[in-house]
Amino acid sequence: MRRLKLAILISGRGSNMEALLHAAEDPSYPAVPVLIASNRPDAKGLETAAAAGIATAAVDHKAYGKDREAFERALDAELAAADTEIIALAGFMRVLTPWFVGKWEGRLVNIHPSLLPKYKGLHTHQRAIEAGDAEGGCSVHWVSAGVDEGDVIAQARVPIVPGDSEDDLAARVLVEEHKLYPRALAMACENILRAAG
Ligand code: GRF
Repeated sequence: MRRLKLAILISGRGSNMEALLHAAEDPSYPAVPVLIASNRPDAKGLETAAAAGIATAAVDHKAYGKDREAFERALDAELAAADTEIIALAGFMRVLTPWFVGKWEGRLVNIHPSLLPKYKGLHTHQRAIEAGDAEGGCSVHWVSAGVDEGDVIAQARVPIVPGDSEDDLAARVLVEEHKLYPRALAMACENILRAAG
């Protein structure tokens, strides 16, 4: 089967990126990583990716001030140079403009640490605990114009245990993120490949 050329966008630690890179070591995985890009030049995940022999790019959003689209055009040039066919956002902490989302819609997925449609945005685990929810979790979804709004591809659930701190819950969810993202990204790729005939 054909493998889609995958770019992963990160801003920090990159543990989800690592999970995707690990899955893509299997030659039958439907995506092959071609680029890891970060808006933060000091993102730890860039070092991890370089050590794994994957091409990296740092496009510092601070160099573009408030001009989000100018930042994205520079990022997009890196994605185009790598011949990117699908983008996975993995802890990428920039809100994307309609220009970028419109350009990549249908080829752009994200992982969000909540059971969408609950808790879009930040501090998801704290909000789930404060609401008294019995379960937390994570969602992989297609990215559309609204933040954390696109169609969900797959979710994983974990229990919320009495006395859980935000960090306890985040750690429990992260274990599931690392299993969910490779599986959900494979589903997304297979969808695209099927549609392309
Ligand atoms: C993950 O919890 C992800 O769901 C959220 O940001 C975190 C990134 O962690 N969007 P990492 O950089 O993948 O380790």
